[in-house]
Amino acid sequence: MSDEKPKLRSADWFGRRDKNGFMYRSWMKNQGHPHDMFEGKPVIGICNTWSELTPCNAHFRELAEWVRRGILEAGGFPLEFPVSSLGESQMRPTAMLFRNLAAMDVEEAIRANPLDGVVLLMGCDKTTPSLLMGAASCDIPAIGLSGGPMLSGRYQGGTLGSGTGIWAMSEDVRAGRMTYEEFTATESCMHRSKGHCMTMGTASTMACMVEALGMSLPGCAAIPAVDARRNTIAQLTGRRIVDMVREDLRMSKVLTRAAFENAIRANAAIGGSTNAVIHLLALAGRIGVPLELADFDRLGSEVSCLVDLQPSGRHLMEDFYYAGGLPAVLRELKEKGLLAEAAVTVAGTTMGDNVADADNWNRDVIHAYDEPFKAHSGIAVLKGNLAPDGAVIKPSAASPHLLVHRGRAVVFASIEDFRARIADETLDIDETSVMVLQNCGPKGYPGMAEVGNMPLPPKVLRKGVTDMVRISDARMSGTAYGTVVLHVAPEAASGGPLALVRDGDVIALDVPNRALTLEVSDEELARRRADWTPPPAPARGWAKLYVDHVLGADKGADLDFLVGGGGTPKLRDSH
Ligand code: FES
Ligand code: MG
Repeated sequence: MSDEKPKLRSADWFGRRDKNGFMYRSWMKNQGHPHDMFEGKPVIGICNTWSELTPCNAHFRELAEWVRRGILEAGGFPLEFPVSSLGESQMRPTAMLFRNLAAMDVEEAIRANPLDGVVLLMGCDKTTPSLLMGAASCDIPAIGLSGGPMLSGRYQGGTLGSGTGIWAMSEDVRAGRMTYEEFTATESCMHRSKGHCMTMGTASTMACMVEALGMSLPGCAAIPAVDARRNTIAQLTGRRIVDMVREDLRMSKVLTRAAFENAIRANAAIGGSTNAVIHLLALAGRIGVPLELADFDRLGSEVSCLVDLQPSGRHLMEDFYYAGGLPAVLRELKEKGLLAEAAVTVAGTTMGDNVADADNWNRDVIHAYDEPFKAHSGIAVLKGNLAPDGAVIKPSAASPHLLVHRGRAVVFASIEDFRARIADETLDIDETSVMVLQNCGPKGYPGMAEVGNMPLPPKVLRKGVTDMVRISDARMSGTAYGTVVLHVAPEAASGGPLALVRDGDVIALDVPNRALTLEVSDEELARRRADWTPPPAPARGWAKLYVDHVLGADKGADLDFLVGGGGTPKLRDSH
């Protein structure tokens, strides 16, 4: 690296000796910044997804203060700014509908402002991919900081995991094993501290993906939100971004193909969320790294799950942190030759170096590679005439006896149709049936809601059956489990074969052979296609723009015109 410092992008605002330089500086001085803050210090944006409507990120104003401290210490000029914050638990019809909108907000905010680098404060599910995607399209130095998981949920002496506990208990209520009063009493037991979901759901998975991609400091993902070391890593992150600007360590130097390969394998090893597939595909598209759905199977499906965390296992993120967190997992991969060690990380060191000495303090939580929690259980990508562009299943969260299964379809045209009929005792369904849900993909819902893990029919539940094969173009919460085939592409609303399935059709699922087959002749499917009409589409606003431009789940469900990046070209002055 040459000794010559790169000219700061912000100098084109604050370093000017003209009328515009006055304007760029003078208005900022109303906050009390002394003049020397504008004289060549790297300007660092603290990109904050704080919101009281995003409970998982509601502590981010405080977290930002620790980042600010680090930036000042390292000689940077911190400027905090808000971006769209997507609260998974509150937003309808699904926070995913707004991931690309939030990514646009982030991208345009970075590009339009005098920023040399950014710290991305991320927590709740969609806040992580939206910030990564937006920043990637600008390709400036950026570092991720997650807000940390909540403390373990505790109820009656046992643990209660975010989301996962709800899926299980609500089935208990429906089966008459738990009263509604007992159910509501657990609400404040499940979520009792600041932070995001403490199961290995989408938020914790994505925090691990950020770390595995090399986009956060090592060890960041698992530190609980309330642990003092969360503040410490925030401060260190603030210090580090200032040096990253000086080194011109841009996102494209970190987010290489090797980084994505590490993320895919790490996702398998942690038993991570299927949502990571969609977010990593979209992120790769932004930074120009070739990545396709088949890579998840090729690289990850043979990797064993080492981490015994809910929803695939028993423990929670707090236990994961105390056991050594993601570095301990990555070290296992490294020692098996499954880690691209040379991948550069935001720490300025390589991934291999970062994890070389990682300790493992609890083999019950993080298993040794040779004694895995679940062998060969990374996400499998299925293909067949029901999913010509692919579908995914998470074998670690599925029932082994259902991974090869043939059954008669029971078809629901929408989630409303499902809810209206599933409890009907006369519905022709039993545990051998295959539940099929249509029109819940990116265009169909719209936004591809997490409704793919359909609850089982009460009459089946009463027999003590806890799992059935379910197939849809929806997603499922990272906290959910079951033999659930998701992300079927092309989706029903764009005329995919899923739209043509009818009650009684035989469907064959064969995970070992990666096949998903609708046993109906091509002639019959052609006849049905001739009768098919697309569902009504939104008429205005964001939903219309989204539906007009969203790509399939197999492409990451980004908008077609947002793929790639615009960098940070010199823009014209505003006055
Ligand atoms: Fe925010 Fe789960 S609802 S992380
Ligand atoms: Mg979710």
